[in-house]
Amino acid sequence: MPPITAVILGAGGRGSVYGGYGLNFPQNMEIVAVAEPRPDRLARFATQHDIAPSHQFASWEDVMKAGKIADVVINCTMDRMHIDSTLAALETGYDVLLEKPMSPVLHENVRLVQAAEEYGRHLQVCHVLRYSPFFEAVRGVVQSGKLGRIISVDHRENLVYWHMAHSFVRGNWRNLAEAGPMILAKCCHDFDILYWILRTPVAWLSSFGSLTHFRPENAPEGAPLRCTDGCPAANTCKYNAVPLYARDVNGWPWNAVELMPTVEARMEALKTGPYGRCVYHCDNDVVDHQTVNMELVDGTTVTLLMQGQGNEEGRTMRYDGTHATLYGRFVAGRYSLTIRYHQTGEEEIVPIIAKDESGHGGGDFGIVHSFVNALRGTPDDSVTTARESLESHLLAFAAEESRLEHSVINMAEYRTRVEGEARQKYAL
Ligand SMILES: NC(=O)c1ccc[n+]([C@@H]2O[C@H](COP(=O)([O-])OP(=O)(O)OC[C@H]3O[C@@H](n4cnc5c(N)ncnc54)[C@H](O)[C@@H]3O)[C@@H](O)[C@H]2O)c1
Repeated sequence: MPPITAVILGAGGRGSVYGGYGLNFPQNMEIVAVAEPRPDRLARFATQHDIAPSHQFASWEDVMKAGKIADVVINCTMDRMHIDSTLAALETGYDVLLEKPMSPVLHENVRLVQAAEEYGRHLQVCHVLRYSPFFEAVRGVVQSGKLGRIISVDHRENLVYWHMAHSFVRGNWRNLAEAGPMILAKCCHDFDILYWILRTPVAWLSSFGSLTHFRPENAPEGAPLRCTDGCPAANTCKYNAVPLYARDVNGWPWNAVELMPTVEARMEALKTGPYGRCVYHCDNDVVDHQTVNMELVDGTTVTLLMQGQGNEEGRTMRYDGTHATLYGRFVAGRYSLTIRYHQTGEEEIVPIIAKDESGHGGGDFGIVHSFVNALRGTPDDSVTTARESLESHLLAFAAEESRLEHSVINMAEYRTRVEGEARQKYAL
């Protein structure tokens, strides 16, 4: 079978990850074109994949003007760009692998689902955690019945403090108007995982949270606007950008500051770029902690907690059933999953069998394998179609509405209302 040919839109962090899939699995995918406005990124990516000059584009719009030049599009542009570029790709005749979130604008998510169905294209969303061996194991345990009937679930998304500062205070997802709510950007994965594991829709939802810490009134006395401008708290502030980004390592998050992989180039970028800013003097307005309470239609209760003051990065969880409790840790490459049986007191360690070294515990390449298999006519039962992914996005938007209005959301009414509003807005 020949490899599927792909165009990558956006050769940033995620574009490089999926580019890496093409290099590691050339029998499955060949990257034949790229769109990227930053000349350094474009040149680097084109060289890595030996892409002909005629197939190197400065924007996704130019790709669409060229007509259909490959089998699929992998859309790794930033969130706000997803809607127009994906609609254009579907219309041009491409099947699309789209980064999450589908869109930070509520009704646009429905529009994307409708468009994929209308054009009869495969639109798959990068909910990569479904393809990590850890979450496959959690799902396996829950669905095996070993825990009995699940009564309650407690799932936490703990961001290590510097990741919070990097992405949600200084970086791409700091601002509602630019990137949408943090509970969508960070936790559409978690809503998706919970839905995929429990397979039961949410009936009721409420949420609380706020931006508590990263505010000007919490800045150390005399702190300038940039860490590079002689801050009096340089030695005591854990967010001081200079030591955070001075480590002589490559990859994320260092490559987000500056693509050139040297400490000197990165230090220079801190003087003018977003990542050198004092975390108390940024244009951030997304929350730094939020909780979501859910009641499923079968009465199971689920809490999701997202917070940005962790000492380590990772997800932790427990599932309490009528026979046993499952404890899980998906933390910085160290996973553990343990069942404790109530009656016997017995403990069972659940093995996690690693697949590959790709990010998100192997999920980054797993999602592309799944996309390729779906296109070759052998989809797996976890495939994250746009329709399937809509649920996680609606839950995130409902949580944001509840947080802002201090209301309890009836999810059945919410789904109907949003679909109706989208139909009216886009004359679907
Ligand atoms: N699945 C996950 O776990 C996961 C993790 C991180 C990010 N993401 C998502 O992936 C997407 C990309 O994030 P990223 O971290 O790679 O961001 P990034 O900023 O590193 O990459 C985006 C790239 O798009 C390029 N771009 C801008 N305008 C363009 C245009 N008109 N045409 C083509 N390219 C254009 C930018 O120059 C940039 O290089 C976002 O939607 C983000 O939310 C998903």
